[in-house]
Amino acid sequence: MKKILVTGSLGQIGSELVTKMRSIYGSDNVIATDIRDNGSNVVTEGPFEILDVTDATKMYDLAKKYEVDTIVHLAALLSATAEKKPLLAWNLNMGGLVNALETARELKCQFFTPSSIGAFGPSTPKDQTPQDTIQRPTTMYGVNKVAGELLCDYYFTKFGVDTRGVRFPGLISYVAEPGGGTTDYAVEIYYEAIKNKRFTSYIDKGTYMDMMYMPDALNAIIDLMEADSTKLKHRNAFNITAMSFEPEQLAAEIKKHIPEFEMSYDVDPARQAIAKSWPNSIDPTAAQEEWGFKSEYDLAKMTVDMLEKLKIKLS
Ligand SMILES: NC(=O)c1ccc[n+]([C@@H]2O[C@H](COP(=O)([O-])OP(=O)(O)OC[C@H]3O[C@@H](n4cnc5c(N)ncnc54)[C@H](O)[C@@H]3O)[C@@H](O)[C@H]2O)c1
Repeated sequence: MKKILVTGSLGQIGSELVTKMRSIYGSDNVIATDIRDNGSNVVTEGPFEILDVTDATKMYDLAKKYEVDTIVHLAALLSATAEKKPLLAWNLNMGGLVNALETARELKCQFFTPSSIGAFGPSTPKDQTPQDTIQRPTTMYGVNKVAGELLCDYYFTKFGVDTRGVRFPGLISYVAEPGGGTTDYAVEIYYEAIKNKRFTSYIDKGTYMDMMYMPDALNAIIDLMEADSTKLKHRNAFNITAMSFEPEQLAAEIKKHIPEFEMSYDVDPARQAIAKSWPNSIDPTAAQEEWGFKSEYDLAKMTVDMLEKLKIKLS
């Protein structure tokens, strides 16, 4: 990775990934793009271009102009929003991906795009979900992610594009707010705990989902992209996870630091249905064995850091 183009770079992941990559590879070598301009440090502290990923010509032209050798494709509609706007999700998630893969093929770029635990469905084994297993998701987001995993494998075997990817669990972070996923509750709870000392969860008690703190997610992207390709038996969609918890466990952890904190439930049937169709926990052994995936943050360590950082941000 010497010159990297990032799509959807103002989202929850991109907002932190661009900053981290610029610190490693140099500010001028990370070209951030998004459909909007929010004036943040991603826009001001290095090259930034407006790019709608459904515009294939502009994507190709920008990648050629900056002579990039790597594309990190993040722009997508997330699970809860995709369920509300399925056709838009199909057009953006699949159209954007194929444009990015075509650009990578033509300009011989290395390629990263994230899949998700949303690529699994109700018939997938629920606990310690294996790397290679049944994938029959029942959401538009899941359909997009499975098709995307297969398409990335296809571009590797058919065209030799160096495609790599992970299945992210729910990501928890404090820089940018999440963009409409099913696991967003696990971020919102921290904001509400600090602001109002109470939180109403739209995900029901007893619902376990995999999660990861953003610093571990960023390291995973960089470690996988830098990994020795001869060691990779899988190319795309490695299961990775750092923890699995239900809302009550998260609330109990927050209560250790904010004793007055109270949580109640007002379950959203749409997001709960998505959550119930996903695994309770996934098995990251393939990622550990093939490129040394590891995570540093468990629930307790993440909660200390989230509360500390958010208190500063919100004060
Ligand atoms: N955040 C998570 O918990 C999570 C978990 C699993 C997988 N993922 C995957 O990671 C990727 C990035 O997720 P995120 O959380 O950063 O998403 P996000 O919703 O926070 O950000 C998406 C970004 O894409 C931009 N965008 C929307 N339409 C666009 C278009 N037509 N052209 C260009 N940009 C456009 C938005 O402006 C936004 O900045 C997605 O593929 C997502 O499915 C995320």
